[in-house]
Amino acid sequence: MKPVKVGLLGLGTVGTGVVRIVEGNQEDLSSQVGSPIIISKIAVKNSDKPRDIFIDPAILTEDPWDVIRDPEIDVIVEVMGGVEQTKAYILEALERGKHIITANKDLMALYGSEILAKAQEKQCDVFYEASVAGGIPIIRTLIEGFSSDRILKIMGIVNGTTNFILTKMSKEGASYDDVLQEAQQLGYAESDPTSDVEGLDAARKMAILGTLGFRTNVELKDVSVRGISQVTKEDIAYAKRLGYEMKLLGIADREDENISISVQPTMVRRSHPIAAVNGVYNAVYVYGEAVGETMFYGAGAGAMPTATSVVADLVAAIKNLKLGVNGLKAIVPYKQKKLKDDEQ
Ligand code: NDP
Ligand code: HSE
Repeated sequence: MKPVKVGLLGLGTVGTGVVRIVEGNQEDLSSQVGSPIIISKIAVKNSDKPRDIFIDPAILTEDPWDVIRDPEIDVIVEVMGGVEQTKAYILEALERGKHIITANKDLMALYGSEILAKAQEKQCDVFYEASVAGGIPIIRTLIEGFSSDRILKIMGIVNGTTNFILTKMSKEGASYDDVLQEAQQLGYAESDPTSDVEGLDAARKMAILGTLGFRTNVELKDVSVRGISQVTKEDIAYAKRLGYEMKLLGIADREDENISISVQPTMVRRSHPIAAVNGVYNAVYVYGEAVGETMFYGAGAGAMPTATSVVADLVAAIKNLKLGVNGLKAIVPYKQKKLKDDEQ
């Protein structure tokens, strides 16, 4: 059986988790796809940096183009982050017929349509399950599981870092700055944590969920955003006294063909299941016209939960490669959206 060669862009929190799962579960993964999966090249910023897993130095490169241009590599796993330059790598990889797995919500929220259109043209897969809610398979669920329904509401905690901060402030009276630092050490926060605490990361994820759930092209500018940097311990204590928990909630609503999407600190009544989502955990509540209420829960950030989604995408892409089909990507938006504000 000829091995499938995979190129990895990034070997940080998520990339390390990907290597651990691909190596640790190799037997099971190869039995699912019918051949060994080999990570044959890895791009990093600094190849001399000490790593907490052993990597053959011969497969490390500091130039992502080495990975993109390698003719033996069939699938690229992008877990290095970044937007403009990363988009150029991804588009070139697609041009060369390579399949893409990415955890990059910044990229997908901004350029998802363009990237998916290119993938469609080249008959390649672009899978991005890890870009929203870490280990929760919410993207597959919206594309496949609810294709039969008309989704009216998507609401959730989609940022692990801020939920970790709010939980520790609420339950332990910890200080905002200390907990943010802890979230960074645990690998939950973005390289620039401003996007976590100011709500931008959650807004990007809500744009992706809104696009998929409402089957229309939701752009980042359509999402109104407020983060948690102004939330004080006193606000949290006051909410608690009234029977609420403070959560950074993303809320996407559809009424007829009008949609509204926001991210903001919200007092959630303690009896609602979302109020019990603590720490780095995320939850996504989906209300469909036919299905009614559903809710999905799991770790929203961190190496292994995120890598679980990345490697599941990798398995799906390799299966498709073997079968000569593409899947889960019929999501180039085909409908014009109408925002609630358009009517005013
Ligand atoms: P890290 O900062 O931990 O890792 C980034 C990796 O990319 C590092 O290995 C770094 O190299 C490498 N890298 C960065 N820039 C370049 C470059 N220009 N050329 C070559 N290599 C480069 O990030 P994470 O693993 O936390 O996140 C990666 C992606 O996954 C991001 O898009 C993030 O938003 C997303 N994500 C992260 C989650 C998490 O829990 N951390 C969860 C879900 C998605 P070096 O090691 O040498 O510094
Ligand atoms: N910084 C992000 C979070 C990583 O805390 O949710 C997962 O997307």
